[in-house]
Amino acid sequence: MICIPIISQTNDEALRDIRRSAPAADAIELRMDVIEGGDLPMLVAEAGKASPNVKIIVTCRRPEESLLPSVRTLRDVNKGRTLPAKLLLLEQAVALGVDFVDIEMACGEEAVHRLRSSIRRQKSLTKIIVSWHDIDKTPSFAKLKTIFHACLRVGADLIKIVPYARHREDNLKVLALFAYAKKWNCPLIAMCMGDEGRMSRVLAISLGSVLTFAVLQSGGASAPGQLTVGAMKEFHRLLESDVREYRPEMTIPARPDFVLLGNPVGHSLSPLMHNQALQAMGIEGHYSACCVEDLRAAITGIRGLKMGGASVTIPFKTAVMEFLDDMDDDAAALGAVNTIVNDRGRLTGFNTDWLGLVQAVKDRMEIAGKTFAVLGAGGTARAAVYGLQKEGGRVFLLNRTLEKGQALAGRFGCLFYPLSKIDEIYADCLINTTSVGLYPENEKSPVPASLLNHFEVVADVIYNPLMTRLLRDAEAKGCKIISGLDMFVYQGAGQIQLWTGREAPVALLRETVRERLNQLES
Ligand code: ATR
Repeated sequence: MICIPIISQTNDEALRDIRRSAPAADAIELRMDVIEGGDLPMLVAEAGKASPNVKIIVTCRRPEESLLPSVRTLRDVNKGRTLPAKLLLLEQAVALGVDFVDIEMACGEEAVHRLRSSIRRQKSLTKIIVSWHDIDKTPSFAKLKTIFHACLRVGADLIKIVPYARHREDNLKVLALFAYAKKWNCPLIAMCMGDEGRMSRVLAISLGSVLTFAVLQSGGASAPGQLTVGAMKEFHRLLESDVREYRPEMTIPARPDFVLLGNPVGHSLSPLMHNQALQAMGIEGHYSACCVEDLRAAITGIRGLKMGGASVTIPFKTAVMEFLDDMDDDAAALGAVNTIVNDRGRLTGFNTDWLGLVQAVKDRMEIAGKTFAVLGAGGTARAAVYGLQKEGGRVFLLNRTLEKGQALAGRFGCLFYPLSKIDEIYADCLINTTSVGLYPENEKSPVPASLLNHFEVVADVIYNPLMTRLLRDAEAKGCKIISGLDMFVYQGAGQIQLWTGREAPVALLRETVRERLNQLES
């Protein structure tokens, strides 16, 4: 969609500009923060008369996020507009049945909830755009992702992210958000303001932006860098004619299949869990386990067979990285990949091990500000330390082999103790990532039962057996416990989210895996 912003200074001028713009655009944005004395019902009615199909966005931009050259006086007019007054205006827009209302992420979750309630009450089809602008610069891609998630968290139907481009390269950071947003299944409007940001305005639509902004005539821009509708349409025509042969629909597999790459894989419960998820979600596809001898060939197979993606397990979590086209920031920081997403032949590596662990811990306790004693120094310990630190936890690492433990602790900047010193350690939570207690050595525990009262919560990443000796001892001592089953299911749910953009039925998956483990144990 091409959207023309209406930034007229009076209600009469706005009515005139709506009459001119609505027929030329797919959408118009009523900038109520700049239309002095703007009569919303009258403006909305005028748009409907001028073009019955034109979509209407109602916005009342915070002055801190606006960059109109002539905005100074308008900002003064806007000064009296407090959040409740702004919300009343947006609620009025909802009642008028406009297509979108735009509210800044900075207005907070409560404001968005109030709008959502209003939409429900009115049984309105209005969608909420949660927006974020930086009128000065473009932050890093990592920061943009954080902003995206903050918008998602407050309850956006659509997210709009528009920073100011100081350099051409800033466009690339913003445009990279489209691939990212797709994974989270949230429609996105993103581009850069400023003359250096023009290319993002042109390319945004081709990459999946819900809309881009343009002006009817040059000189009428609501933000620097906006092109005219005519120029924008011409660019799109040229782009479309060039890319026609590569339309994404032609390459997306009709039936997404997934594979587990590991060696060995015979005992894995991932096929059971993922096939249950695909079936419950009504996705026609299959997940199978492959015992891999030649990793490079296996990765080529994912592309060649147009599979939706893969899980990666021992011993390939690090080795697989060199065969991928791209890596998610967390996977790169962790140095391990357990998930591959195939986006039209482009393979990106992710890691959901740390997500699974963090999610399982969060179900029982807060992480920020709490202390965690992590046992082990292998790949699972690395995921645990990374996730806990990312969430603001303080980690002590303990390991049998000193050099391995010291190396890992050094990499993540946490304290290290030999496992033999466990009797000196007190923490809010103990997490076992070693293989001690794994089937068939069910009666072994990495920590003597007499020390478990040093911890409030005890977690074990082992899920076979379901109740390890460590967890049984911890429960007997009155500790809260977290089983490896939860972590396993959450990491799998994270994979499904990445592959399908949809939430997995976590409770169903937990029961499915639990049932199978009970059968195996009996
Ligand atoms: P993963 O990738 O699942 O973390 P890993 O890399 O093999 O598996 O790491 C297993 C961890 O369990 C290691 O930290 C290992 O300790 P060492 O570094 O001393 O080898 C730990 N581990 C295995 N058996 C153990 C035992 N009997 N006692 C204490 N730690 C043990």
